[in-house]
Amino acid sequence: MKHRGQPPEPYRIKSVEPIRLLHRPEREKRLIEASYNIFGLRAQDIYIDLLTDSGTGAMSTRQWAALMMGDETYAGAVSFQHFEETVRKITRKRFVIPCHQGRSAENMVFTTILEKGQYIVNNTHFDTTRANTLHKGGIAVDLPCPESTSLEPSSFKGNMDVEKLEKFIKKHGRDKIPMVIMTVTNNSVGGQPVSMKNIKEVSAICKKHNILYFFDCARFAENCYFIRRDESGYADKAIEDIAAEMFEQCDGVMMSAKKDGLANIGGFVALNDERLYQKLTELMIIIEGFPTYGGLAGRDLEVLAIGLQEVMDFSYLDFRIEQVAYFGRQLKQAGMPIVEPTGGHAVFVDAGQYLPHIPAERFPGQALTTAFYIEGGVRVVEIGSLMFGGEDLTNGEKLLAPRELVRMALPRRVYTNSHLDYVAGVAQTITNRKESLTGYEIAWESELLRHFTCRLKPAAPEAVQMES
Ligand SMILES: Cc1ncc(COP(=O)(O)O)c(C=O)c1O
Repeated sequence: MKHRGQPPEPYRIKSVEPIRLLHRPEREKRLIEASYNIFGLRAQDIYIDLLTDSGTGAMSTRQWAALMMGDETYAGAVSFQHFEETVRKITRKRFVIPCHQGRSAENMVFTTILEKGQYIVNNTHFDTTRANTLHKGGIAVDLPCPESTSLEPSSFKGNMDVEKLEKFIKKHGRDKIPMVIMTVTNNSVGGQPVSMKNIKEVSAICKKHNILYFFDCARFAENCYFIRRDESGYADKAIEDIAAEMFEQCDGVMMSAKKDGLANIGGFVALNDERLYQKLTELMIIIEGFPTYGGLAGRDLEVLAIGLQEVMDFSYLDFRIEQVAYFGRQLKQAGMPIVEPTGGHAVFVDAGQYLPHIPAERFPGQALTTAFYIEGGVRVVEIGSLMFGGEDLTNGEKLLAPRELVRMALPRRVYTNSHLDYVAGVAQTITNRKESLTGYEIAWESELLRHFTCRLKPAAPEAVQMES
């Protein structure tokens, strides 16, 4: 994990989109109007938006040109053929079903393979994967490796715990486990990568027990980059070859192509089992559309066919992963403790550690999130007890998240390092007066996924009144 400095962007800028910083009193007003929930802010009121890396990337000149080549034929479109050929080549799978985003792939797959009371095992379920499992009556089991929660930096913190997997299968039997999923990179533990060794070990276990092994591969190319950089034997391999070796280990994939598809919308399922493919397409026609467009326009498929190839360009990946690492170093210098090593798509600040005077029940992550907006018009997101806490619906107990984090996700090919330097400057200003930050209380919340829509109020009146 040595670093050799941040390489320059491997592209130049052809089209620009103006952004503007509102004056501080306006930002304060906007935040109050949004009830201190950053999901309630309007795009035009945000200067730098680090809410998510999903669907927020910039397209290349080739992708913009390809939009015009979109074939909007209902069935058998040329654009579908381009998309199918690309996905087949990358994933090594025979059957390809496009859909509009990752969660619709999950919906189709779980509706088809999952029966009530069965388990889906994952290194760590992403929220929508978990929600889709629960929605079909399944039980979502996470088996991340022990290093995933350690504060010590180490490579491949996204791995699955293979010993626990063996034990789990032994205890519950393969009939209760229709699928094991490997999420690459492991988003919920900080975009941490999974090693090829771990991918192969899990593959061998699944084969031995005859359990379907799928990847949730939203960030497959970023994962391949880490394998090349940090796993012995891969330093001289092309990303395409690493991807091929990786995908050969699994029976199928679900992908939200809004990440490593370098597109603003899209997803797919790819697999080899013809019977499962038939079942999926039957459902697909009911919920997404004909299997050669899957809820997307022909032009979207054309854009994806290019994005999925561009994302494996080494200089692009090298710039991206090093940009995330660079940003992490800047934030550390500004006094913010971060999860290390930095992963593929975001830097996670440990707000619990940074703001020890705010208890988890008062959401230190939210205090930091609102401070970023007030101080610099920067939108980031709380990944702590506001997102994962609440009431346990089964026993009424109050839940708190294991850690109070703030995620700062980097959209692909959108912000330059000077934007990130600006954000680091905002971080420094916050650090200079972090003792003045106070927590929040919930004024209103929904029963499920409360963080998206809840209304908040400062736990003390001075919460957002930092001096300018
Ligand atoms: C690992 C992973 N799986 C699935 C999804 C869901 O994808 P979508 O937002 O396209 O529905 C996401 C989105 O962030 C993700 O990160």
